[in-house]
Amino acid sequence: MKEKFERLHDNIELDKKSISDMTTLNEFRVKYLGKKGELKLMMKEMGGLSPEDRPIFGQKVNEVRDALEAYIADKKSDIERIEMNEKLMTEDIDVTLDFDEELCGTRHPITLAVRELVQIFTAQGYKLKEGPEIETVFNNFDALNSPIDHPSRSENDTFYFSDGLLLRTHTSGVQIRTMLSEQLPIRMISPGRCFRKDELDATHSPMFHQFEGLVVGEGITMADLKGTLTNFAKEMFGENTKTIFRPHDFPFTEPSAEMDVSCFKCGGTGCKFCGGNGSIEILGCGMVHPKVLEHCNIDPNKYSGFAFGMGIDRIAMLKYEIDDIRLLYQNDRRFLEQF
Ligand code: DAH
Repeated sequence: MKEKFERLHDNIELDKKSISDMTTLNEFRVKYLGKKGELKLMMKEMGGLSPEDRPIFGQKVNEVRDALEAYIADKKSDIERIEMNEKLMTEDIDVTLDFDEELCGTRHPITLAVRELVQIFTAQGYKLKEGPEIETVFNNFDALNSPIDHPSRSENDTFYFSDGLLLRTHTSGVQIRTMLSEQLPIRMISPGRCFRKDELDATHSPMFHQFEGLVVGEGITMADLKGTLTNFAKEMFGENTKTIFRPHDFPFTEPSAEMDVSCFKCGGTGCKFCGGNGSIEILGCGMVHPKVLEHCNIDPNKYSGFAFGMGIDRIAMLKYEIDDIRLLYQNDRRFLEQF
């Protein structure tokens, strides 16, 4: 038995010398550890041994196998390192090669819409603010005067984390962050991603984009709101655009309204684009609720403000005549190249 293992050891050491790459390493592995390899053959011989010798023999075979496996793993990473180095030394990247201009990207319609919105408001002195997509329940709901039983708070509508955090359902929380951290007067805008548990269809997506605006100071009135947003609508959709403010209900504004713009396709007479209405709903707005100001340590008897929020996806879809929101998120070049 002793000579058998000595011979095996000598053969292994000899064969190790001829290992130079992955192919020879693999041949070595198959020769000794393969299904019909040396070790398997030796195990077969075990039956012919005396009961005392059998366990000793088995143990020795196991030792040889463990040593071989460890050696092969080491050798494999050595060879890989050497081959990678050789590759790096010999391969060149030809930076003068012509590139395929077709592969040049285009701006995404959401990016285009955000840029235009930001441009319109920053030109008037609004500051661009960003808020986190993971928001506190306080900033997203409580401070915005959202009733504790409001349906939007339910687990069916909102993605919650465990510890008072959620994926923001709107950008309105950035109003709270800004009022809590900035000096008055405030004029801010905030575009960003929002999340709701909506089923994906032609007009809904669980991830979408909003654009928020807020103005707070002394003597801000509903007239400022109407003037600002009508001016915005003209810049965004054309000089002849008219606006209509319809009473609405939001917890964070009082009074609240929704703003429609006259259809920029038919000018208001009614067409397929506006569903025959002559107008298209664009945004929600209102005068900041006194309770919201109080939550942000702003005296509602001295200061007032207005706010507005709109869906960027919707604005982009209207402007670029995209009829399915899913197109915005599929990264299909045939679609994206059109912008
Ligand atoms: N947060 C509202 C929404 O998600 C949009 C909105 C409406 C924002 C009115 C406002 C506002 O700031 O004043 O539907």
